Amino acid sequence: MATRPPYILAIGGTTRPGSMTERVLRNALGHARARGAQVQLLGGDSLQLPLYGTAAPDHPLVQTLLSEVRRADGVILASPGYHGALSGLMKNALDYLEEARSDAQPYLSRRAVGCVGLAAGWQAGAATLGGLRGIVHALRGWPTPMGVVINSTHTRFDADGACDDAQVDQQLQTMAHQVLEFCQLHH
Ligand SMILES: Cc1cc2nc3c(=O)[nH]c(=O)nc-3n(C[C@H](O)[C@H](O)[C@H](O)COP(=O)(O)O)c2cc1C
Repeated sequence: MATRPPYILAIGGTTRPGSMTERVLRNALGHARARGAQVQLLGGDSLQLPLYGTAAPDHPLVQTLLSEVRRADGVILASPGYHGALSGLMKNALDYLEEARSDAQPYLSRRAVGCVGLAAGWQAGAATLGGLRGIVHALRGWPTPMGVVINSTHTRFDADGACDDAQVDQQLQTMAHQVLEFCQLHH
């Protein structure tokens, strides 16, 4: 019997042209694709949502976010550190997952979630990673053992996600593979 490839959704990015957050997610999705996954990125443009609680129920970006999360077998999240925590753009997007509370598979349950915090310094990157992992727990998801902190003043990514630091690239690959391993265990 043929099994469909796992569908891995990445969420994260900023409104800044050339957002490193989005490039990091392209890198991680590239590793997932190389292992046979189908992948999708919801970057900064897709996350320009009204403040949670103010959107019309049929807002197209909200509908896309929720339908993609519901479809996903695994998730990867990345956020820049803004003033020592995840960005408001990212937190607002994650707040919308409240709409999935009554689903048969509520929130992020039964999904592994890889998390990445990146910032111009280590402290904000680590705090952002911890914040994302705490949110994943609250949303009943399974943070992967490997979480990644990236210092955006040390590491470069090109537009396709290629990384100039082999160690960071390896960490992102390990995280993406752990998301896929959980899919295999679970399905
Ligand atoms: C509003 C704002 C606040 C920031 N706060 C911090 C911070 O507290 N600590 C830090 O190390 N970097 C901070 N940064 C730097 C960003 O985390 C860093 O440049 C990140 O790579 C930006 O992501 P992007 O390239 O996807 O836009 C801040 C940047 C902005 C725009």
